Amino acid sequence: GFLPAASLSGRNLLENVKNNNKNSIIFYGSQTGTAEDYASKLSKELSSKFGLKTMTVDFSDYDFDNFGDISDDILCFFLIATYGEGEPTDNAAEFFEWLENEADTLSSLKYTVFGLGNSTYEFYNSMGRKLNEKLESLSAERFSAYAEGDDGKGTLDEDFLSWKDSVFDSLKNDLNFEEKELTYEPGLKLEESDFLTTDDLSVALGEPDKSYVNSSTDLTKGPFDHSHPYLAQVTHSKELFQTKDRSCVHIEFDISNSNLRYSTGDHLAVWPSNSNENIATFVKAFGLEDKLDTVFELKKLDSTISIPFPTPTAYGAVIRNHLEISGPISRQFLLSIAGFAPDVESKQKVTQIGNDKVLFAEKITSKLLNIADALLLISNQKSWTGVPFEFIIESISHLQPRYYSISSSSLSEKTNINITAVIEAETKDNQLVTGVVTNLLKNIEISQNKSSDKPIVTYDLKGPRGLFSNYKLPVHVRRSTFKLPSNPNIPVILVGPGTGVAPLRGFIRDRVQQKKNGSGVGETILFYGCRNQHEDYLYKEEWPQYAKELGEKFEIITAFSRQDPSKKVYVQHKLLEQSSKINKLLDSGAFVYVCGDASHMARDVQASFAKILAEGRGISEEKAGELIRSFKVQNRYQEDVW
Ligand code: 2AM
Repeated sequence: GFLPAASLSGRNLLENVKNNNKNSIIFYGSQTGTAEDYASKLSKELSSKFGLKTMTVDFSDYDFDNFGDISDDILCFFLIATYGEGEPTDNAAEFFEWLENEADTLSSLKYTVFGLGNSTYEFYNSMGRKLNEKLESLSAERFSAYAEGDDGKGTLDEDFLSWKDSVFDSLKNDLNFEEKELTYEPGLKLEESDFLTTDDLSVALGEPDKSYVNSSTDLTKGPFDHSHPYLAQVTHSKELFQTKDRSCVHIEFDISNSNLRYSTGDHLAVWPSNSNENIATFVKAFGLEDKLDTVFELKKLDSTISIPFPTPTAYGAVIRNHLEISGPISRQFLLSIAGFAPDVESKQKVTQIGNDKVLFAEKITSKLLNIADALLLISNQKSWTGVPFEFIIESISHLQPRYYSISSSSLSEKTNINITAVIEAETKDNQLVTGVVTNLLKNIEISQNKSSDKPIVTYDLKGPRGLFSNYKLPVHVRRSTFKLPSNPNIPVILVGPGTGVAPLRGFIRDRVQQKKNGSGVGETILFYGCRNQHEDYLYKEEWPQYAKELGEKFEIITAFSRQDPSKKVYVQHKLLEQSSKINKLLDSGAFVYVCGDASHMARDVQASFAKILAEGRGISEEKAGELIRSFKVQNRYQEDVW
């Protein structure tokens, strides 16, 4: 958040708990906002239903020296996401380090843990499991069972709800709490201003953070991070697909006027705003047409809550820049909004759907309905004018930056960051669902190149007070562990179908630059896949250039999946065809890099490597699988998958 609660009473957790008279703490380890979101929902529900005095805690806001002094009259709930290859989220990394290396006995700690993970990744829910086991081994007392949710199977929401139910059962049956009906208790109070207008410079209109509003600070100086992005100029953009049916853009950001730096393989976070079309539906759903330019201030009703965006601000600015209005809706949200339904039938209907998993899946999830669409459908297009805006701010997730694998090379273009993004748009039963940032990028490409392409949805490209005019966007760099070996002579096998090729292009450009600098460069073999060589072959004209530069050290092997209607050819098939070559490279110490789709491709590719190794070394595929896992630990087999 912009104003961490801890800034008020320092980084002493216990002091904060005491001073604010709390008896339950909901800790969250969150990377993309889901665990944070669950934490605030759980906090509200525990307070409304059980009268608990709750506070949510971002690990990075506190020190942990006196963590062991948390007494047993305080209930601790941990919502812990596992990130990437079994890593903690950025905000929980230090806490885990402390827990591993410094934590003493925690016998007075009463806790329960919910892990958020994705089973398509190797180290599924490893951080949730680790925390649960570590706390147990340090003699903490678990008051309700550990459970985990699986984003890979798409059941995360339901897994969370059933864990929550079991926690509530423990509270009632073991800890003798009484359960009341859920009512909304605001943590924030909205006060509309009688005198401020959107012309006043003190009013934030969606600037990425307060320092952009009426400020004298030098915005080109960092550090740039998840609370302070750099406003980067898009210097060049280009459509990469040759077909008109789908779209993929190459975007170049200039960072030469900033001290922002990156290294090949890192990720670029791009800060989103919502499309005009999605905003219009949202405004209709809540009947906010007359409010968009009204200025308000937010007051905390509880000092442990943080104000989620700069204020004073205006309704319209919040909807455009801070609320995740186009994402999927949760069952919990429907239940919590029922009390504000515009009429009796809508209230009945929303409660019924909210209480029925199957009905919810059928009516809402399978139709890809977002909040506004779902509410309008339920109320027969009547606006939900009775919903307090505080509820909207507190219950709807806040827009988070989207991460893209950087496709440029920090060796060959130090101050220019490229990303490669497929435009997301899906239509189901006449319902159009659009990716937030990808369509924004396509809008920029169309406008910048005066292209004749038609945008699927439109955006305000000027941004608040014209801040984004002439194609600027807020960005920051997130370091990644997806890196070439430090010795350029080591051969590499790169596998990246679709936009998975992005960071691999960066790697290849690195190698070209290294060669130009006079260094030896090892074999560089790229397995690339797309549908058809005339439609979606990314960077088609660049590969022959790289082959020229790197000579016989470079090879691209392509798999076109929809070229021959009689069979799908994927990168993993091409790998098998090259079995002996790959074995030779692996024997000589080659590193493997796999980038792209996590759910199927990465797994299938790993299976191919296991087959290849088994054959080459005369071992079982199971043994070969273990070998690959050990390669992963040694960073000789790296994945950047999503
Ligand atoms: P398809 O869409 O024809 O199935 C980039 O998206 C390329 O990856 C496409 O050619 C796509 O093929 C292919 N692809 C889809 N699923 C895959 C999988 N499980 N493994 C490898 N490639 C896959």
